[in-house]
Amino acid sequence: MRHAYIGERSTPPRSGRVLPGSHPTGWYLDGRHRAVCRADIGGGSVDRDVPAPMFSRVHREQTSRLGGFLGSLEGCSLDLHGFLKALSRRWLTAVVCLVLAIGAAVAVTAWSTPEYEARTQLFVAARTSEDTTQLNQGQSFSQARVQSYAAIVSTQRVTGPVVRELKLPTTPEELASRITAEAPLNTVLINISVRDTEPERAARIANAVAACFSAVIERLETPAPTGPQRKPGTPPEPVSPVSLGVTQMAVAPSAPVSPRPLLNLAAGVLGGLLLAAGIVFLLETLDTSLKTTQALGELTELPGLGAIPYDKNAPGQPLVTAAGHSKRAEAFRKLRTNLQFAQVDDRPRIIMVTSSVPGEGKTNTSVNLALSLAEAGVATCLVDADLRRPCVASTFGLVRDAGLTTVLIGQARPEDVMQKAGNGLSVLASGAIPPNPTEMLASARMSEVLHDLADTYEVVIVDTAPLLPVADTIGLAPLAQGTLLVVRAAKTSRDQVRTAVEALNRVGGRILGTVFNMAAAPKGDSYAAYGDLPSPRISVGRREIAPMDLAGEK
Ligand SMILES: Nc1ncnc2c1ncn2[C@@H]1O[C@H](COP(=O)(O)OP(=O)(O)OP(=O)(O)O)[C@@H](O)[C@H]1O
Ligand SMILES: [Mg+2]
Repeated sequence: MRHAYIGERSTPPRSGRVLPGSHPTGWYLDGRHRAVCRADIGGGSVDRDVPAPMFSRVHREQTSRLGGFLGSLEGCSLDLHGFLKALSRRWLTAVVCLVLAIGAAVAVTAWSTPEYEARTQLFVAARTSEDTTQLNQGQSFSQARVQSYAAIVSTQRVTGPVVRELKLPTTPEELASRITAEAPLNTVLINISVRDTEPERAARIANAVAACFSAVIERLETPAPTGPQRKPGTPPEPVSPVSLGVTQMAVAPSAPVSPRPLLNLAAGVLGGLLLAAGIVFLLETLDTSLKTTQALGELTELPGLGAIPYDKNAPGQPLVTAAGHSKRAEAFRKLRTNLQFAQVDDRPRIIMVTSSVPGEGKTNTSVNLALSLAEAGVATCLVDADLRRPCVASTFGLVRDAGLTTVLIGQARPEDVMQKAGNGLSVLASGAIPPNPTEMLASARMSEVLHDLADTYEVVIVDTAPLLPVADTIGLAPLAQGTLLVVRAAKTSRDQVRTAVEALNRVGGRILGTVFNMAAAPKGDSYAAYGDLPSPRISVGRREIAPMDLAGEK
């Protein structure tokens, strides 16, 4: 069977049933567009069809990975609704574009030299007798020629003498570029327009051009004296069959024809709108960060356990209390509930909180989740295992120098350096920062300490360093019983999240779900605000139910 190669992945999709003991090496579309997984078993390889529901996801994932750049743009295609949302999010950029374009239009209008246009009109008459037939023939003759005459207006035969006669500070070619002539269809009229920066000069040039042009045409149309002389001694007098008369003399225009402020302004507004739309589209397309919990769920296929709204007061007031009615307090209560209900069969007691990169809100999530659990009466211990930038102690106003590292090097027992943060929450600060945090956190002693704490407390929350820049948390992950992955809304890129999830999966870290931090605060009633958060599916025995259903069953 011939296969079309559609990409590779290091791990099969979560629900994929790959042959036991096999390692999937690639995904293919066979001749009938069925997805096939090729897997290595020992020395050989074997193909296996991918179940239909899985195919669409595999296909979506794999096709979106075609080409590194295209892969990085995954999920960034914008429909009209998405574009309008992006526009409202990037309104400042749009306004700046609009203001810049309008400013440019105003500047062009203000700085461009005004130009005036003077117009004159000529009538081309045929020199005929009063005989009607001849008159008609003459009329047809003039009409046939008049288009050609118009093309002669801006030739050097006309402009040269005008420049010389009026002593214009320009060349015949340049003057020609400012002259336009047109002959309306089925008429014997020629309209001549001349542009100049001075209105009077424009009129003078137009009149001079008209006079010179009439003379040139009459000269051109005059037949050469080649015929035999009618009377001996008398030279024949050749006459032009047409004569040009001025029907309208040019007068100095009162208003300039350029610049046109209203037209320029309209062009500026239109250009600004197009520029704004283009820039917003470009930024949105190049921005691979995650904006919604749905997008995060689709990317990671992990349960979204919480969405913490952006709160401008968070840096000043990092702690929220259970009694608080802010949206952030509510979000942490919901995170606590989702976590309590999740994995009821095998409830994790040691929960590590981490994220891909620095500053996503790991510490903020750890301390508030721990506080919220303690306030709900759960015996909780918060451990600061971020041995790079420990912040837990300072957040609670506790002492940092005695804590986890003091216990790890055997100078104290956990209970000796445990501190109380109120509401029954116990805090094990980081202790002194060691030179070898990665080794310390992955040590057997660390595992012992965590399990001792898990024997004492119902839940141990572990704040950690970010996953991607340092190896500390990857070493710690297998020691925890579950991991919460914090993702900063509209900031963390898809690649960073994907890499973090893959790194955790590689070391066997059990990811409980994601916390979407600094999410755009939903409008309206704060209680209804997070109703649309996709509920994590929870396994109870062999059934899968949502936590809210479970709450209803109780
Ligand atoms: N929901 C939020 N709304 C607004 N600001 C927040 C929110 N969560 C966290 N912050 C702010 O973001 C900054 C980083 O938060 P935090 O220290 O918790 O991140 P971190 O992931 O622990 O950082 P690090 O990687 O340095 O340890 C802090 O100033 C914090 O106040
Ligand atoms: Mg931190």
